[in-house]
Amino acid sequence: MSKLNSDWKNSMQIKIDYNNMMSEFIGAEQGFTEKELYSAKSVAENAFNNVSENRGKGMMGWTELPYNQNEIVKDITETAKDIRKKFDNFVVLGIGGSALGPIAVFQALCHLRHNELSKKARKAPKLYVEDNVDPERMAALLSVLDLEKTVFNVVTKSGATSETMSQYLIIFDILKSKFGDKAKEHMIATTSENKGNLIKIAKAEGFKTFYIPESVGGRFSELCPVGLLPAAVLGIDIKAMLKGAAYMDKLCKSKDYRKNPALVSALLQYLSMKKGKNISVMMPYADSLKYIADWYCQLWGESLGKAVDKDGKTVFAGQTPVKALGVTDQHSQIQLYREGPFDKVITFIAVEKFRAEVEISEGCKDFPDVSFLCGHTLSELINSERKATEYALTTAQRLNYTITLPEVNAFTIGELLYYFELETAYTGAMLNIDTFNQPGVEGGKNATYALFGRKGYENTKKEMDNAPKKKSEYIC
Ligand code: PA5
Repeated sequence: MSKLNSDWKNSMQIKIDYNNMMSEFIGAEQGFTEKELYSAKSVAENAFNNVSENRGKGMMGWTELPYNQNEIVKDITETAKDIRKKFDNFVVLGIGGSALGPIAVFQALCHLRHNELSKKARKAPKLYVEDNVDPERMAALLSVLDLEKTVFNVVTKSGATSETMSQYLIIFDILKSKFGDKAKEHMIATTSENKGNLIKIAKAEGFKTFYIPESVGGRFSELCPVGLLPAAVLGIDIKAMLKGAAYMDKLCKSKDYRKNPALVSALLQYLSMKKGKNISVMMPYADSLKYIADWYCQLWGESLGKAVDKDGKTVFAGQTPVKALGVTDQHSQIQLYREGPFDKVITFIAVEKFRAEVEISEGCKDFPDVSFLCGHTLSELINSERKATEYALTTAQRLNYTITLPEVNAFTIGELLYYFELETAYTGAMLNIDTFNQPGVEGGKNATYALFGRKGYENTKKEMDNAPKKKSEYIC
Protein backbone atom coordinates (compact mmCIF):
# COMPACT_ATOMS: atom_id res chain seq x y z
CA MET A 1 0.00 0.00 0.00
CA SER A 2 3.04 2.26 0.32
CA LYS A 3 2.88 3.71 -3.22
CA LEU A 4 -0.36 5.57 -2.81
CA ASN A 5 -1.63 7.85 -5.52
CA SER A 6 -3.47 11.04 -4.76
CA ASP A 7 -6.89 9.84 -6.00
CA TRP A 8 -6.70 6.89 -3.66
CA LYS A 9 -5.56 9.11 -0.78
CA ASN A 10 -8.46 11.49 -1.40
CA SER A 11 -10.87 8.58 -1.41
CA MET A 12 -9.50 7.65 2.05
CA GLN A 13 -9.99 11.07 3.60
CA ILE A 14 -11.60 10.86 7.01
CA LYS A 15 -14.45 13.34 7.52
CA ILE A 16 -15.73 15.23 10.55
CA ASP A 17 -19.49 15.85 10.58
CA TYR A 18 -20.41 18.35 13.31
CA ASN A 19 -23.98 19.12 12.29
CA ASN A 20 -25.22 17.75 15.59
CA MET A 21 -23.16 20.26 17.54
CA MET A 22 -25.09 23.10 15.89
CA SER A 23 -28.22 24.75 17.23
CA GLU A 24 -30.07 24.19 13.93
CA PHE A 25 -30.02 20.48 14.69
CA ILE A 26 -29.67 20.20 18.45
CA GLY A 27 -31.68 23.19 19.57
CA ALA A 28 -30.69 26.65 20.74
CA GLU A 29 -30.19 25.72 24.39
CA GLN A 30 -27.36 23.22 23.85
CA GLY A 31 -26.12 23.78 20.31
CA PHE A 32 -23.79 26.37 18.85
CA THR A 33 -24.78 28.96 16.28
CA GLU A 34 -22.57 29.79 13.33
CA LYS A 35 -22.27 33.28 14.81
CA GLU A 36 -21.03 31.86 18.12
CA LEU A 37 -18.34 29.85 16.34
CA TYR A 38 -17.39 32.80 14.20
CA SER A 39 -17.02 35.06 17.21
CA ALA A 40 -14.50 32.54 18.63
CA LYS A 41 -12.55 32.70 15.37
CA SER A 42 -9.58 34.41 17.00
CA VAL A 43 -9.40 31.66 19.66
CA ALA A 44 -9.05 29.12 16.87
CA GLU A 45 -6.55 31.25 14.94
CA ASN A 46 -4.39 31.85 18.00
CA ALA A 47 -4.34 28.13 18.77
CA PHE A 48 -3.49 27.37 15.15
CA ASN A 49 -0.64 29.93 15.18
CA ASN A 50 0.65 28.63 18.50
CA VAL A 51 0.76 25.02 17.27
CA SER A 52 2.20 26.00 13.86
CA GLU A 53 4.95 28.18 15.36
CA ASN A 54 5.98 25.44 17.76
CA ARG A 55 6.03 22.56 15.28
CA GLY A 56 9.04 20.35 15.87
CA LYS A 57 10.13 22.42 18.87
CA GLY A 58 10.09 21.61 22.60
CA MET A 59 7.79 18.63 23.10
CA MET A 60 6.24 19.01 19.66
CA GLY A 61 8.61 16.71 17.80
CA TRP A 62 5.61 14.44 17.04
CA THR A 63 4.45 16.86 14.32
CA GLU A 64 7.52 15.94 12.23
CA LEU A 65 7.39 12.15 12.65
CA PRO A 66 5.62 11.61 9.29
CA TYR A 67 8.56 13.27 7.55
CA ASN A 68 11.84 12.63 9.35
CA GLN A 69 12.11 8.89 9.88
CA ASN A 70 13.36 7.40 6.58
CA GLU A 71 16.45 5.79 8.11
CA ILE A 72 14.56 4.68 11.21
CA VAL A 73 11.77 3.11 9.14
CA LYS A 74 14.42 1.21 7.16
CA ASP A 75 16.01 -0.11 10.35
CA ILE A 76 12.59 -1.00 11.82
CA THR A 77 11.53 -2.79 8.65
CA GLU A 78 14.73 -4.87 8.52
CA THR A 79 14.57 -5.70 12.22
CA ALA A 80 10.89 -6.63 11.93
CA LYS A 81 11.65 -8.96 9.02
CA ASP A 82 14.31 -10.69 11.07
CA ILE A 83 11.99 -10.99 14.08
CA ARG A 84 9.25 -12.54 11.94
CA LYS A 85 11.74 -15.16 10.75
CA LYS A 86 13.04 -16.05 14.20
CA PHE A 87 10.20 -15.61 16.67
CA ASP A 88 6.56 -16.61 17.26
CA ASN A 89 5.83 -14.12 20.05
CA PHE A 90 6.54 -10.40 20.33
CA VAL A 91 5.96 -9.04 23.83
CA VAL A 92 5.85 -5.31 24.56
CA LEU A 93 6.77 -4.38 28.13
CA GLY A 94 5.55 -0.83 28.64
CA ILE A 95 2.77 1.28 30.08
CA GLY A 96 0.76 4.42 29.21
CA GLY A 97 2.03 5.98 26.00
CA SER A 98 4.40 3.05 25.53
CA ALA A 99 1.53 0.55 25.37
CA LEU A 100 -1.78 2.13 24.38
CA GLY A 101 -0.73 3.02 20.82
CA PRO A 102 0.64 -0.46 20.00
CA ILE A 103 -2.54 -2.03 21.42
CA ALA A 104 -4.81 0.32 19.43
CA VAL A 105 -2.98 -0.21 16.13
CA PHE A 106 -2.79 -3.98 16.61
CA GLN A 107 -6.55 -4.16 17.15
CA ALA A 108 -7.25 -1.80 14.25
CA LEU A 109 -5.04 -3.35 11.61
CA CYS A 110 -4.62 -7.03 12.39
CA HIS A 111 -7.08 -9.87 12.24
CA LEU A 112 -9.36 -9.44 15.27
CA ARG A 113 -8.37 -12.94 16.45
CA HIS A 114 -4.73 -12.63 15.37
CA ASN A 115 -3.21 -14.51 18.31
CA GLU A 116 -5.66 -17.38 17.86
CA LEU A 117 -4.81 -17.90 14.18
CA SER A 118 -2.45 -20.66 13.08
CA LYS A 119 1.15 -19.60 12.50
CA LYS A 120 0.67 -19.97 8.75
CA ALA A 121 -2.44 -17.76 8.69
CA ARG A 122 -0.93 -15.17 11.03
CA LYS A 123 2.25 -14.68 8.96
CA ALA A 124 3.60 -12.73 11.95
CA PRO A 125 4.33 -13.36 15.62
CA LYS A 126 1.58 -13.19 18.21
CA LEU A 127 1.55 -9.85 20.03
CA TYR A 128 1.25 -9.39 23.77
CA VAL A 129 1.33 -5.93 25.34
CA GLU A 130 1.97 -6.18 29.07
CA ASP A 131 0.90 -2.88 30.57
CA ASN A 132 0.28 -3.88 34.16
CA VAL A 133 2.17 -5.39 37.06
CA ASP A 134 -0.56 -7.73 38.21
CA PRO A 135 1.40 -10.83 39.33
CA GLU A 136 -1.33 -13.16 38.05
CA ARG A 137 -1.05 -11.62 34.59
CA MET A 138 2.74 -12.00 34.53
CA ALA A 139 2.49 -15.61 35.72
CA ALA A 140 -0.16 -16.33 33.09
CA LEU A 141 1.97 -14.82 30.33
CA LEU A 142 5.01 -16.84 31.33
CA SER A 143 2.91 -19.98 31.40
CA VAL A 144 1.93 -19.62 27.72
CA LEU A 145 5.17 -18.39 26.16
CA ASP A 146 7.81 -20.57 24.58
CA LEU A 147 10.78 -18.38 25.45
CA GLU A 148 12.94 -19.86 22.70
CA LYS A 149 10.46 -18.32 20.26
CA THR A 150 9.84 -15.05 22.10
CA VAL A 151 11.37 -11.60 21.81
CA PHE A 152 10.61 -8.84 24.33
CA ASN A 153 10.50 -5.14 23.52
CA VAL A 154 11.00 -3.07 26.67
CA VAL A 155 9.64 0.41 25.98
CA THR A 156 10.14 3.31 28.35
CA LYS A 157 11.21 6.80 27.40
CA SER A 158 12.30 7.74 30.91
CA GLY A 159 13.94 4.37 31.44
CA ALA A 160 12.76 4.65 35.01
CA THR A 161 9.08 3.70 35.12
CA SER A 162 8.74 1.24 38.00
CA GLU A 163 6.20 -1.00 36.28
CA THR A 164 8.20 -1.39 33.08
CA MET A 165 11.56 -1.76 34.78
CA SER A 166 10.14 -4.40 37.19
CA GLN A 167 8.92 -6.36 34.18
CA TYR A 168 12.31 -5.96 32.54
CA LEU A 169 14.13 -7.21 35.67
CA ILE A 170 11.88 -10.27 35.94
CA ILE A 171 12.06 -11.18 32.26
CA PHE A 172 15.74 -10.57 31.69
CA ASP A 173 16.62 -12.63 34.76
CA ILE A 174 14.62 -15.54 33.34
CA LEU A 175 16.18 -15.07 29.89
CA LYS A 176 19.70 -15.00 31.34
CA SER A 177 19.21 -18.17 33.31
CA LYS A 178 17.76 -19.88 30.25
CA PHE A 179 19.96 -18.55 27.46
CA GLY A 180 23.10 -17.19 29.18
CA ASP A 181 25.01 -14.91 26.81
CA LYS A 182 22.36 -15.28 24.14
CA ALA A 183 19.67 -13.68 26.37
CA LYS A 184 20.30 -10.31 24.72
CA GLU A 185 18.99 -11.70 21.42
CA HIS A 186 15.56 -11.90 23.06
CA MET A 187 15.44 -8.29 24.21
CA ILE A 188 15.00 -5.03 22.28
CA ALA A 189 14.98 -1.66 24.06
CA THR A 190 13.04 1.39 22.90
CA THR A 191 14.01 4.38 25.00
CA SER A 192 15.57 7.82 25.14
CA GLU A 193 18.96 8.04 23.44
CA ASN A 194 20.54 10.16 26.13
CA LYS A 195 18.52 10.04 29.32
CA GLY A 196 17.56 7.43 31.90
CA ASN A 197 18.89 4.05 32.90
CA LEU A 198 17.47 1.83 30.19
CA ILE A 199 19.80 3.19 27.53
CA LYS A 200 22.79 2.53 29.81
CA ILE A 201 21.53 -0.98 30.57
CA ALA A 202 20.85 -1.62 26.87
CA LYS A 203 24.38 -0.58 25.92
CA ALA A 204 25.95 -2.63 28.70
CA GLU A 205 23.93 -5.72 27.76
CA GLY A 206 24.27 -5.22 24.00
CA PHE A 207 20.54 -4.98 23.17
CA LYS A 208 19.27 -3.87 19.79
CA THR A 209 17.98 -0.39 20.56
CA PHE A 210 15.53 2.10 19.05
CA TYR A 211 15.26 5.67 20.21
CA ILE A 212 12.30 7.78 21.30
CA PRO A 213 13.07 11.38 20.27
CA GLU A 214 13.46 13.72 23.25
CA SER A 215 10.83 15.99 21.73
CA VAL A 216 8.16 13.25 21.60
CA GLY A 217 6.20 12.50 24.77
CA GLY A 218 4.79 9.07 25.60
CA ARG A 219 1.20 9.68 24.52
CA PHE A 220 2.35 11.29 21.25
CA SER A 221 4.79 8.47 20.45
CA GLU A 222 2.75 5.96 18.43
CA LEU A 223 4.23 7.13 15.13
CA CYS A 224 7.85 6.76 16.32
CA PRO A 225 9.62 3.44 17.06
CA VAL A 226 7.37 2.92 20.11
CA GLY A 227 4.50 2.04 17.80
CA LEU A 228 6.22 1.49 14.48
CA LEU A 229 8.33 -1.49 15.58
CA PRO A 230 5.44 -3.61 16.94
CA ALA A 231 3.34 -2.61 13.92
CA ALA A 232 6.07 -3.58 11.45
CA VAL A 233 6.61 -6.91 13.24
CA LEU A 234 2.91 -7.59 12.71
CA GLY A 235 3.31 -6.89 9.00
CA ILE A 236 1.47 -3.55 9.10
CA ASP A 237 2.47 -1.08 6.39
CA ILE A 238 4.12 1.56 8.59
CA LYS A 239 4.99 3.77 5.62
CA ALA A 240 1.29 3.96 4.78
CA MET A 241 0.54 4.90 8.40
CA LEU A 242 3.04 7.76 8.21
CA LYS A 243 1.63 8.84 4.84
CA GLY A 244 -1.83 8.91 6.37
CA ALA A 245 -0.53 11.14 9.16
CA ALA A 246 1.13 13.45 6.62
CA TYR A 247 -2.14 13.59 4.63
CA MET A 248 -4.05 14.66 7.76
CA ASP A 249 -1.36 17.24 8.48
CA LYS A 250 -2.00 18.67 5.00
CA LEU A 251 -5.77 18.72 5.59
CA CYS A 252 -5.14 20.79 8.71
CA LYS A 253 -3.03 23.55 7.12
CA SER A 254 -5.66 26.27 7.26
CA LYS A 255 -6.12 28.67 10.16
CA ASP A 256 -9.78 28.96 9.12
CA TYR A 257 -11.52 26.52 11.48
CA ARG A 258 -14.10 25.72 8.79
CA LYS A 259 -11.35 24.30 6.62
CA ASN A 260 -9.33 22.51 9.28
CA PRO A 261 -10.95 19.35 10.74
CA ALA A 262 -8.74 19.12 13.87
CA LEU A 263 -9.15 22.84 14.56
CA VAL A 264 -12.93 22.88 14.26
CA SER A 265 -13.34 19.91 16.59
CA ALA A 266 -10.87 21.47 19.06
CA LEU A 267 -12.88 24.69 18.97
CA LEU A 268 -16.17 22.84 19.50
CA GLN A 269 -14.72 20.86 22.41
CA TYR A 270 -13.23 24.02 23.93
CA LEU A 271 -16.53 25.92 23.67
CA SER A 272 -18.37 22.86 25.02
CA MET A 273 -16.09 22.79 28.06
CA LYS A 274 -16.92 26.44 28.64
CA LYS A 275 -20.59 25.42 28.67
CA GLY A 276 -19.88 22.79 31.35
CA LYS A 277 -19.56 19.75 29.09
CA ASN A 278 -16.89 18.13 31.20
CA ILE A 279 -17.05 14.67 29.68
CA SER A 280 -15.85 13.58 26.25
CA VAL A 281 -17.20 10.19 25.20
CA MET A 282 -15.34 8.40 22.41
CA MET A 283 -17.59 5.80 20.84
CA PRO A 284 -16.32 3.90 17.80
CA TYR A 285 -18.80 1.69 15.99
CA ALA A 286 -16.22 -0.93 15.05
CA ASP A 287 -14.45 -3.47 17.19
CA SER A 288 -11.26 -2.74 15.29
CA LEU A 289 -11.32 0.80 16.71
CA LYS A 290 -12.20 -0.19 20.27
CA TYR A 291 -8.71 0.52 21.63
CA ILE A 292 -8.35 3.74 19.65
CA ALA A 293 -10.80 5.00 22.28
CA ASP A 294 -8.43 3.85 25.08
CA TRP A 295 -5.50 5.54 23.37
CA TYR A 296 -7.59 8.72 22.93
CA CYS A 297 -8.55 8.67 26.63
CA GLN A 298 -4.89 8.87 27.67
CA LEU A 299 -4.09 11.51 25.06
CA TRP A 300 -7.03 13.73 25.99
CA GLY A 301 -6.98 13.13 29.76
CA GLU A 302 -3.26 13.41 30.43
CA SER A 303 -2.74 16.30 28.01
CA LEU A 304 -5.63 18.54 29.05
CA GLY A 305 -6.15 17.70 32.72
CA LYS A 306 -4.04 20.43 34.29
CA ALA A 307 -4.28 22.33 37.57
CA VAL A 308 -2.56 25.50 36.38
CA ASP A 309 -2.31 27.30 33.08
CA LYS A 310 0.82 28.68 31.45
CA ASP A 311 0.45 31.94 33.40
CA GLY A 312 0.45 30.06 36.71
CA LYS A 313 -3.27 30.61 37.23
CA THR A 314 -5.21 27.78 38.88
CA VAL A 315 -7.63 26.49 36.24
CA PHE A 316 -8.30 22.80 36.94
CA ALA A 317 -8.75 22.36 33.20
CA GLY A 318 -9.73 19.27 31.28
CA GLN A 319 -12.56 17.11 30.12
CA THR A 320 -12.96 13.55 31.42
CA PRO A 321 -12.55 11.12 28.53
CA VAL A 322 -14.81 8.09 28.52
CA LYS A 323 -14.50 5.14 26.20
CA ALA A 324 -17.54 3.38 24.82
CA LEU A 325 -18.10 0.88 22.04
CA GLY A 326 -20.97 0.86 19.59
CA VAL A 327 -23.22 -1.05 19.55
CA THR A 328 -22.24 -2.84 22.76
CA ASP A 329 -22.56 0.20 25.02
CA GLN A 330 -25.96 1.15 23.60
CA HIS A 331 -27.11 -1.51 26.03
CA SER A 332 -25.08 -0.09 28.88
CA GLN A 333 -24.32 3.65 28.72
CA ILE A 334 -26.66 5.27 26.18
CA GLN A 335 -29.50 5.53 28.70
CA LEU A 336 -27.30 7.88 30.72
CA TYR A 337 -26.09 9.79 27.68
CA ARG A 338 -29.64 10.43 26.48
CA GLU A 339 -31.33 11.17 29.78
CA GLY A 340 -28.60 12.00 32.29
CA PRO A 341 -26.90 15.35 32.91
CA PHE A 342 -26.10 17.64 29.98
CA ASP A 343 -22.38 17.34 30.65
CA LYS A 344 -21.07 15.38 27.66
CA VAL A 345 -19.91 15.62 24.08
CA ILE A 346 -20.23 12.28 22.33
CA THR A 347 -17.92 11.50 19.44
CA PHE A 348 -18.93 8.64 17.20
CA ILE A 349 -16.40 6.98 14.93
CA ALA A 350 -18.03 5.40 11.90
CA VAL A 351 -16.60 3.05 9.28
CA GLU A 352 -18.17 3.14 5.82
CA LYS A 353 -16.79 -0.11 4.46
CA PHE A 354 -15.98 -3.02 6.74
CA ARG A 355 -13.29 -5.52 5.73
CA ALA A 356 -15.66 -8.44 6.10
CA GLU A 357 -19.37 -8.87 5.55
CA VAL A 358 -21.81 -11.25 7.18
CA GLU A 359 -25.39 -11.68 6.01
CA ILE A 360 -28.19 -12.21 8.47
CA SER A 361 -29.69 -15.57 7.57
CA GLU A 362 -33.29 -16.18 6.58
CA GLY A 363 -35.38 -17.78 9.29
CA CYS A 364 -38.05 -17.30 11.97
CA LYS A 365 -40.67 -16.60 9.23
CA ASP A 366 -43.49 -16.85 11.77
CA PHE A 367 -41.96 -14.16 13.96
CA PRO A 368 -42.10 -10.84 12.07
CA ASP A 369 -40.43 -9.06 15.01
CA VAL A 370 -37.37 -11.20 14.35
CA SER A 371 -37.60 -11.86 10.60
CA PHE A 372 -37.41 -8.14 9.72
CA LEU A 373 -33.66 -8.58 10.23
CA CYS A 374 -33.38 -11.24 7.53
CA GLY A 375 -31.70 -10.38 4.25
CA HIS A 376 -29.75 -7.51 5.80
CA THR A 377 -26.06 -7.59 6.67
CA LEU A 378 -24.22 -6.98 9.95
CA SER A 379 -22.52 -3.89 8.52
CA GLU A 380 -25.96 -2.48 7.63
CA LEU A 381 -27.10 -3.25 11.17
CA ILE A 382 -24.11 -1.70 12.96
CA ASN A 383 -24.24 1.45 10.80
CA SER A 384 -28.02 1.76 11.11
CA GLU A 385 -27.73 1.45 14.87
CA ARG A 386 -25.09 4.18 14.90
CA LYS A 387 -27.36 6.47 12.86
CA ALA A 388 -30.28 5.61 15.12
CA THR A 389 -28.25 6.42 18.25
CA GLU A 390 -27.04 9.66 16.68
CA TYR A 391 -30.66 10.54 15.96
CA ALA A 392 -31.85 9.59 19.44
CA LEU A 393 -29.15 11.71 21.09
CA THR A 394 -29.76 14.64 18.75
CA THR A 395 -33.51 14.67 19.43
CA ALA A 396 -32.66 14.68 23.15
CA GLN A 397 -30.43 17.72 22.50
CA ARG A 398 -27.19 15.90 23.29
CA LEU A 399 -24.08 17.29 21.61
CA ASN A 400 -22.52 14.76 19.29
CA TYR A 401 -20.39 14.57 16.18
CA THR A 402 -19.16 11.84 13.89
CA ILE A 403 -15.75 11.02 12.48
CA THR A 404 -16.09 8.78 9.42
CA LEU A 405 -13.36 6.51 8.08
CA PRO A 406 -14.02 5.27 4.53
CA GLU A 407 -12.38 2.05 5.71
CA VAL A 408 -9.93 0.94 8.37
CA ASN A 409 -6.43 0.59 6.91
CA ALA A 410 -2.90 1.70 7.75
CA PHE A 411 -3.39 5.03 5.93
CA THR A 412 -6.69 5.98 7.62
CA ILE A 413 -5.33 4.93 11.03
CA GLY A 414 -2.34 7.22 10.48
CA GLU A 415 -4.78 10.01 9.59
CA LEU A 416 -6.90 9.36 12.67
CA LEU A 417 -4.00 9.27 15.12
CA TYR A 418 -2.54 12.49 13.75
CA TYR A 419 -5.98 14.16 13.74
CA PHE A 420 -6.46 13.41 17.46
CA GLU A 421 -2.94 14.57 18.28
CA LEU A 422 -3.49 17.87 16.47
CA GLU A 423 -6.94 18.32 18.00
CA THR A 424 -5.40 17.80 21.46
CA ALA A 425 -2.59 20.28 20.76
CA TYR A 426 -5.06 22.92 19.50
CA THR A 427 -7.37 22.41 22.48
CA GLY A 428 -4.44 22.67 24.90
CA ALA A 429 -3.40 25.93 23.23
CA MET A 430 -6.97 27.26 23.55
CA LEU A 431 -6.92 26.37 27.26
CA ASN A 432 -3.48 28.02 27.59
CA ILE A 433 -2.10 24.98 29.38
CA ASP A 434 1.03 22.86 28.95
CA THR A 435 -0.39 20.03 26.86
CA PHE A 436 2.79 18.00 26.94
CA ASN A 437 3.67 17.61 30.61
CA GLN A 438 2.12 15.24 33.16
CA PRO A 439 2.93 16.47 36.69
CA GLY A 440 -0.01 14.47 38.04
CA VAL A 441 1.45 11.22 36.73
CA GLU A 442 4.89 12.07 38.07
CA GLY A 443 3.32 12.58 41.55
CA GLY A 444 2.18 8.95 41.63
CA LYS A 445 5.47 7.69 40.17
CA ASN A 446 7.46 9.55 42.84
CA ALA A 447 5.25 8.24 45.66
CA THR A 448 5.88 4.68 44.41
CA TYR A 449 9.64 5.29 44.40
CA ALA A 450 9.35 6.58 47.99
CA LEU A 451 7.34 3.55 49.13
CA PHE A 452 9.95 1.24 47.60
CA GLY A 453 12.80 3.10 49.34
CA ARG A 454 14.42 4.57 46.22
CA LYS A 455 17.36 6.87 46.99
CA GLY A 456 16.51 10.55 46.56
CA TYR A 457 12.87 10.13 47.56
CA GLU A 458 13.38 10.19 51.35
CA ASN A 459 11.45 13.45 51.77
CA THR A 460 8.44 12.12 49.85
CA LYS A 461 8.57 9.03 52.09
CA LYS A 462 8.61 11.25 55.19
CA GLU A 463 5.66 13.28 53.88
CA MET A 464 3.75 10.08 53.18
CA ASP A 465 4.56 8.69 56.64
CA ASN A 466 3.29 11.92 58.20
CA ALA A 467 0.03 11.93 56.24
CA PRO A 468 -3.09 11.45 58.44
CA LYS A 469 -3.52 7.79 59.39
CA LYS A 470 -6.69 6.11 58.16
CA LYS A 471 -9.38 5.69 60.82
CA SER A 472 -10.71 2.18 61.44
CA GLU A 473 -14.20 3.72 62.04
CA TYR A 474 -14.37 4.47 58.35
CA ILE A 475 -13.59 0.91 57.31
CA CYS A 476 -16.36 -1.65 57.58
O1 PA5 B 1 2.38 10.26 28.06
C1 PA5 B 1 3.27 10.04 28.88
O2 PA5 B 1 4.34 10.65 28.86
C2 PA5 B 1 3.10 8.98 29.95
O3 PA5 B 1 1.83 8.45 29.99
C3 PA5 B 1 4.10 7.87 29.71
O4 PA5 B 1 3.88 7.29 28.45
C4 PA5 B 1 4.03 6.78 30.78
O5 PA5 B 1 4.07 7.34 32.06
C5 PA5 B 1 5.21 5.82 30.62
O6 PA5 B 1 6.41 6.52 30.68
P1 PA5 B 1 7.77 5.91 30.17
O7 PA5 B 1 7.73 5.79 28.70
O8 PA5 B 1 8.83 6.87 30.61
O9 PA5 B 1 7.92 4.59 30.84
